[in-house]
Amino acid sequence: MTMEATIKNYKLEDWSRRWVDRETAFHVAGVNHILQNFFDQVRGDTVFVPLCGKTLDMLWLAQQNCTVVGVDGVETPVQEFFAENNLDYSVRQLNDDVKIYKAKNVDITIFICDLFASKPELFGMQFDLIWDRGSFVAINVDERAKYTCLLSNLLAPEGKWFLVTVDYDDKILGEPPRTVSEEDMRQFAPLNFTKVYSDLTKAYNPKVEEMIENAYVIIK
Ligand SMILES: C[S@@+](CC[C@H](N)C(=O)[O-])C[C@H]1O[C@@H](n2cnc3c(N)ncnc32)[C@H](O)[C@@H]1O
Repeated sequence: MTMEATIKNYKLEDWSRRWVDRETAFHVAGVNHILQNFFDQVRGDTVFVPLCGKTLDMLWLAQQNCTVVGVDGVETPVQEFFAENNLDYSVRQLNDDVKIYKAKNVDITIFICDLFASKPELFGMQFDLIWDRGSFVAINVDERAKYTCLLSNLLAPEGKWFLVTVDYDDKILGEPPRTVSEEDMRQFAPLNFTKVYSDLTKAYNPKVEEMIENAYVIIK
């Protein structure tokens, strides 16, 4: 019989602990295949990567000539991103709440701050593409409406929000990634969305037997 865990609301310090304890199986060693396969349909010059961690997708997007802006509330993965990819960078403390890492030879800027405490103006632009893998599924369910509002403000009028979700029994883990059903999509992504991909995927936690990965293109 499967034990059900209580679904715990996460704070930034929980993410910080996970990075310290290396509970980071969500980080994958390569570039996301859904991004690569659908990039021609969603491509844009400017890309926002919310809750970016140290995803290699940012490097790949920069190699496609995109201006890439990421945000993460924990500094460890960002330091690791630049170190592990041998990227020269500068660091600027903007104010008490925001630090900015900027690569010198590729067009990648990462803001260290709590996404929910940030204003869209912080990033200085609206984006043609939002690449959302491991972000919507990472936030607490009671933050979804705020998140959707924040991201739609960051999306350029003709922009595309490319969202990857997972659908599984998340009570087994009681922690992110959180499941996102079609009903959740109707409720929390009240923009126009089209499902472009759905397939079984390998769950990165051995307690989970089956997980479906879905991808949606959302427009304003
Ligand atoms: C599941 S990981 C996904 C990382 C990346 N998108 C990937 O696919 O590998 C979620 C990331 O969001 C960050 N995070 C969680 N809540 C945040 C918040 N409120 N503001 C900024 N970053 C946050 C965590 O530190 C973590 O690196």
